[in-house]
Amino acid sequence: MKRRGAVLTFVVVLIAFVVVAFQFNLSAIPEPGKREIYVAGKLRHMLVSRASSREQIPPAPANRSASAEEGDKLYGTECADCHGLDGKSPTDSGRWMYPRAANLISPEPQQYSDRELFWIVKNGLRFSGMPAFGKVETDEHIWNLVHYIRKLPSGPDVASETRSQ
Ligand code: HEC
Repeated sequence: MKRRGAVLTFVVVLIAFVVVAFQFNLSAIPEPGKREIYVAGKLRHMLVSRASSREQIPPAPANRSASAEEGDKLYGTECADCHGLDGKSPTDSGRWMYPRAANLISPEPQQYSDRELFWIVKNGLRFSGMPAFGKVETDEHIWNLVHYIRKLPSGPDVASETRSQ
């Protein structure tokens, strides 16, 4: 009797899975829904906070502004390809990834602590286009990038400026 119940549950779950899988849209074109963005954001913050508290994060360079200046030099080659030179106007590739490359000056990324930002840049974010820089940049360079992100200018949106011209 118990076995028949287990088989029935398995079949129901399998049918539900097949129905969901066939309706799943693999395309990166549709805009992510508000609910999806909200839930994914909360989950990401929770996982990043947990991971960064468990990992040993090296101490940050003491001179923040000198470190941010160094970060400025790295940002253009490492990050601007997706996040855009100003950090808030993603390039075409960044714009059409799924999830979209984040606007780095918006409240969402700026709410992370410095340690959490360090963790993200070092480890990347799985299931998104955000690469891990831990194998290509030194810890010091990663701190430089974190300090630079904090100082990104919040002037008018470059993309909307271009559009209105
Ligand atoms: C190949 C494209 C790409 C490159 C290059 C890239 N990123 Fe990202 N980044 C992404 C995408 C896509 C996301 C969004 C991930 C998500 O929403 O889950 C992201 C997310 C982030 C986030 C987290 C934002 C948030 O709200 O959770 C930070 C911080 C970040 N990137 C910083 C950087 C820095 C610093 C660099 C350069 C060292 C960089 N990224 C290079 C694609 C990229």
